[in-house]
Amino acid sequence: MLQRFYIETFGCQMNEHDSEKVAGLLAHRGMVAVNSPEEADLFLLNTCSVREKAAQKMYSRLGEIKKQKGTNPNFLIGVLGCVAQQEGEALISKAPFVDLVVGTHMVHALPDLLEEIEQERGGRRRVATDFMESTAPVEIPQVIRQNSFRANITIMEGCNKHCSFCIVPYTRGRERNRPAKAVMDEARRVVDQGFVEILLLGQTVNSYKDPHNRRFKFADLLSEVAAIPGLRRLRFTSPHPREFDDDSISVIGEMETICNQIHLPVQSGSNPILKRMRRQYTRERYLELVDKFRNCGRSIALSTDIIVGFIGEKEADFQETLSLVEEVQFESMFSFKYSPRPETEAQNFEGDLPEEEKTRRIMALQRLQKGIQLRLHRQRYLGRCRNVLVEGTARDGVRRYGRTTTNKIVNFPGNDQPGTFTEVLITDVGPNSMVGQKLEEIEQNQRKQAYGTRI
Ligand code: 5AD
Repeated sequence: MLQRFYIETFGCQMNEHDSEKVAGLLAHRGMVAVNSPEEADLFLLNTCSVREKAAQKMYSRLGEIKKQKGTNPNFLIGVLGCVAQQEGEALISKAPFVDLVVGTHMVHALPDLLEEIEQERGGRRRVATDFMESTAPVEIPQVIRQNSFRANITIMEGCNKHCSFCIVPYTRGRERNRPAKAVMDEARRVVDQGFVEILLLGQTVNSYKDPHNRRFKFADLLSEVAAIPGLRRLRFTSPHPREFDDDSISVIGEMETICNQIHLPVQSGSNPILKRMRRQYTRERYLELVDKFRNCGRSIALSTDIIVGFIGEKEADFQETLSLVEEVQFESMFSFKYSPRPETEAQNFEGDLPEEEKTRRIMALQRLQKGIQLRLHRQRYLGRCRNVLVEGTARDGVRRYGRTTTNKIVNFPGNDQPGTFTEVLITDVGPNSMVGQKLEEIEQNQRKQAYGTRI
């Protein structure tokens, strides 16, 4: 009987949350989570295939883990997530020591698959990568959350867009929405349990529609979740710029629980490239959306994703990306070199750029962004007080760190518990994080200075 499991997760928040669901399923069948692969008799790797590097990382990690089979003949290795979905049987021929391959739609079947393997004792391997597109995602009865104050909640899975660079529609399938009632029940339950922040998840989270009532859209769900009494912060990821309607923007403008940070992945600032990427918006349309957020009534920090060196990206196109970044002034950015992916439309486009050119462009983009972030941090944060949700001990092992509503990391001296809120005066800023001091400590020191300490 399998007893101890260890899950390692690569990739996005959706994958992180899938691992939480898997942990719940395994706990439900009586297994316990352990702290290292060495202690486990079941090792699961939840994989990412959005860029080639992530997929390669999987094979090298599996190579390391395989060694454990030498010392423990009952040790089982399973692969989950997007690479599992994409490779299926092929994964077993490339890595024959893998016992189990479970695709993105089949997570709920994991307990049964393990049961079958156990009964056969060293028998056949299991590969389960069917797509179940006609139905809503299967409800998972129990989730074991990694974080004690932020609860991830899936609202939809899959993607109906056809961005030419992106593998996600092939690894996650088409859009499948969860019934609003199931989402609301889970949201109320986690708030009752004491979670202060909710992160709503979906590959194109803002295209959400209740499968039982197609008129109940993302804006409706967002405003209902945001209004749950006791919830302090609401985030969502990842939205598609095309799917933001005016209703959702006005909900964001009205509801203070929704964090002052919106991710708006632009990918490129050049119209010909956006067109070739099939992003369904132009630079101008994107900038209009940015304006709508700027005028929504609250101050919203924008973040973005950018791909450099897409096939056919000329120097002039890249300059358009730089000029858009200059114009919007994002508070943070994730940038990637284009990586050709199997099955995608762009894989058939001719003329992938040389690696050195992609490197040159990404470095120029990151240099520009670093300067912008430092300037914005000085303007918007330095010398100001910010409400921080404490997350844990800082990297130095001594201080605490937490996040502002705009998702900025702040380090500060203190011994606050994770999941609590505190006001912090920002005393120093870098391009990526900030340093501060708790307001209550500053006030205490001021009182001491003014009145002396009573002995
Ligand atoms: N190459 C590089 N980056 C990619 N992304 C998605 N597909 C690719 C690819 N083939 C990036 C996009 C997306 C983010 C999650 O990953 O910027 O928004």
